[in-house]
Amino acid sequence: MRVLALETSCDETAAAVVDDQGNVLSDVVHSQIAIHAPYGGIIPELASRDHLRNAEYVVREALARAGIVDVSSVDGIAVTCRPGLVGALLVGVQVAKALAFATDLPFVGVDHLVGHLLAVRTIRPGSTNAVPAYPYLALLVSGGHTALYRVDGPLLTDIREIGATRDDAAGEAYDKTAKLLGLGYPGGPTIDRLAHDHEALAAGDRHDEEPFTLPMLRGFEFSFSGLKTQVAQRVAKQPEILKNPARIAALCAAFQEAMTRVLVQKLFLAAEAEDVTRVVIGGGVAANRGLRARILRVAKKRNVEAYLPDLASCTDNAAMIGYAGAMRLVRGERDTLALCAESRTSLPRTTRKGRGERV
Ligand code: KG4
Ligand code: ZN
Repeated sequence: MRVLALETSCDETAAAVVDDQGNVLSDVVHSQIAIHAPYGGIIPELASRDHLRNAEYVVREALARAGIVDVSSVDGIAVTCRPGLVGALLVGVQVAKALAFATDLPFVGVDHLVGHLLAVRTIRPGSTNAVPAYPYLALLVSGGHTALYRVDGPLLTDIREIGATRDDAAGEAYDKTAKLLGLGYPGGPTIDRLAHDHEALAAGDRHDEEPFTLPMLRGFEFSFSGLKTQVAQRVAKQPEILKNPARIAALCAAFQEAMTRVLVQKLFLAAEAEDVTRVVIGGGVAANRGLRARILRVAKKRNVEAYLPDLASCTDNAAMIGYAGAMRLVRGERDTLALCAESRTSLPRTTRKGRGERV
């Protein structure tokens, strides 16, 4: 089964053709970073307008690169329908509905988070990555979400939240920290690069900054807003840091150390608690070099299998949506043209944002 998929939930306009084995036949991503960067964050109205400008182009390109001349020769259409910016989601949903109506092809909406959780199962040309069997423990770390899930299969009903962030998502904490260090938007990749460069220095050439207190070590929930505040307080006390690129890089390394230690520790503890021997990551922050290296190190020590998606499968893309859609379509699931875009995920959530202990 070949599925044409669209993804417009945030600031990437994407289309892909994927088969139900996870093979990525084409994957086209148009990034809006240049449009939002001057504002230091995503402007929803600008995102919707740019999706409108590019949706047709990415679909045509995805079909052409997969060698498909006539759209009706695919077997189904999938689209991200939640969670995300509703105005942005609506563009993809409407284009997908129009295509499904015109071709009479089966049509399904996909939860973006399910896409991220299954992204590790997509196989890109030339990739030698192994695909994990079920069940696996997944750490989803993106700009909008951070949570641990037990994944027993590819459908919504096969996925259970173990714990999520009570405040900032990991990517959000990266981006806000980068902003206060004057590193531009989106800051995650920049912090990652500076931390890596700092750690590559010889011990004698490098001056480490004092480590940050690890936030919320107990349980499976996360809290990252305090880590960002620790960075802000350090910079307020020592404003000279901001004038010294070597110290900024050292601070990025300390931030990344705290962030990745907490994420990785909880991922493996959750796997142990669930008696699962495979761990997986997904979402934009899963591209982080420090996080990937730490997971591989700990997995080896604990005799757990770690599966890391290709970098292109970490950040937003339509291939993961196509695969998640194919898993619904092969089981006979269908949505109608009455499908709505929604801002919230359809995965049941156990963590209450901004509240106290879960009861
Ligand atoms: O999954 P994604 O593309 O979009 C959402 O669904 O949110 O994730 C985007 C987030 C941004 O916050 C970005 O800064 C972060 O992923 N990110 C990274 C890295 N690459 C992207 N954060 C840390 N290190 C990276 N290498
Ligand atoms: Zn995402």
